Amino acid sequence: MSQHEPFVFRTIEKLLEKASELGIDLPFQRDLVPLFEGYRIGSKRISNRLTVQPMEGYDANPDGSPGELTFRRYLRFAQGGSGLIWFEATAVVPNGRSNPRQLWLHKHSLDGFKRLVEETRCAAHEAFGEGHEIYCVLQLTHSGRYSRPQGKPQPQVALLNPYLDEKSDSLHIFSDQELDDLQEKYVEAVGLAYQAGFDAVDLKACHGYLLNELLASYERTDSHYGGSFENRMRFLLEVIPKIRQEVPKIGLTMRLNAHDGLPYPYGFGVSQDESIRIDLTEPIKLIRRLIQEGCTLFNITLGIPYLHPHLSRPFDRPLFKSPLPFEHPLEGVARFLAVTRELQREFPEIPLVGTGYSWLRQFLPYVGAAVLKRKEATFIGLGRSSLAYPDAPKDLMNEGAMNPKKVCTACSRCSELMRMGGFAGCVVRDKETYGKFYKELRKKLRKQLRRQTRRKRKEK
Ligand SMILES: Cc1cc2nc3c(=O)[nH]c(=O)nc-3n(C[C@H](O)[C@H](O)[C@H](O)COP(=O)(O)O)c2cc1C
Repeated sequence: MSQHEPFVFRTIEKLLEKASELGIDLPFQRDLVPLFEGYRIGSKRISNRLTVQPMEGYDANPDGSPGELTFRRYLRFAQGGSGLIWFEATAVVPNGRSNPRQLWLHKHSLDGFKRLVEETRCAAHEAFGEGHEIYCVLQLTHSGRYSRPQGKPQPQVALLNPYLDEKSDSLHIFSDQELDDLQEKYVEAVGLAYQAGFDAVDLKACHGYLLNELLASYERTDSHYGGSFENRMRFLLEVIPKIRQEVPKIGLTMRLNAHDGLPYPYGFGVSQDESIRIDLTEPIKLIRRLIQEGCTLFNITLGIPYLHPHLSRPFDRPLFKSPLPFEHPLEGVARFLAVTRELQREFPEIPLVGTGYSWLRQFLPYVGAAVLKRKEATFIGLGRSSLAYPDAPKDLMNEGAMNPKKVCTACSRCSELMRMGGFAGCVVRDKETYGKFYKELRKKLRKQLRRQTRRKRKEK
């Protein structure tokens, strides 16, 4: 591993030099045509390979319906030209919200979601013509250990985890019956997502949230959701046929943690020798089963951002008062590329969305185009970059390049906003809207930290 360094590259050659110094084979090509090739999923055509990754804005109305800023974000994404728009984590039950302003889909918020999908499609058509086709996926979730439905932590877990739990007395451990019942809530939410006009739903199984946690529930004893591979995968493998039965026309996708970054027996996609090495044996086995069950698209991601943020999103500046990781951010990008490559090679016919490109800034299109050309992913996912620079696809279409003055600076401020429970967006490139929220929350956080330090001193 190497030392962490911020992004200092003025030319792609300098970036490639760094990659070579780190022993990384960074795919690269100047021809951007692969980014703009269409793709078909079932009967739906997607105009290009650029994807807006799911990103919570915590700007829903209290009833879970999309708020004013939610509309603003998705209209900007649509007007920016991405072919695939992966709508953010949306709770299937109120108790599973990670924030009182997280989206929550239920029959009384349905109209808001309908309008959101309609207006998003309309904005894309107005900007690029009727022939520009977007694919809208809604990510459905239960936030599990990270639930904060009233703003305070209310963890609901599949099992106790010594790497994640500071205290275990305040945790609610799901019973098998509760998990069985939750399957029905997912089926209901998928039905509503179909009525809202989404092309597909994602049964989110990543970043430490409930369905991800179940995949690594080795130590959940006396339960049909714990222990063996079949038991750990049970929720997904049981709920999908129910969804197929009830909502046969909706597309099924999954955002999947291919590797949690936690040691066995507490992490998914890790070797069983306690080395925390990536081992894709089980993710491959799971993806194979999910394809048999009818999943047609996967979005590959890594890590538990609450524990190891660098694994999930390589950055220059860490979250407030957090340490820098012991690796170069380019190594983080390379890890994403390698994992997605291995999975895409295993499943050449199944579309995979790759993650972790934003740190590459204006050079990401050259890496993305080469990844597509090499068939090491099918879509290029842009998370923070889409918040900072939603028009990047349009600029690539019209100008053939991204503007370095508009790119994401990987400063982690969007994540800080999210962690502090504020409206999340880009504080640097969309300052007029998000700068003020950031200032207010930062003050609050400083006060909180001072109080904590005083309390700790007293306790000593
Ligand atoms: C503000 C913010 C909100 C996010 N919300 C979600 C989410 O709702 N669902 C999800 O799967 N990932 C979420 N992520 C992770 C991103 O989708 C993405 O995986 C991550 O930012 C790395 O990609 P990037 O390097 O392009 O930013 C979020 C990230 C950020 C910064």
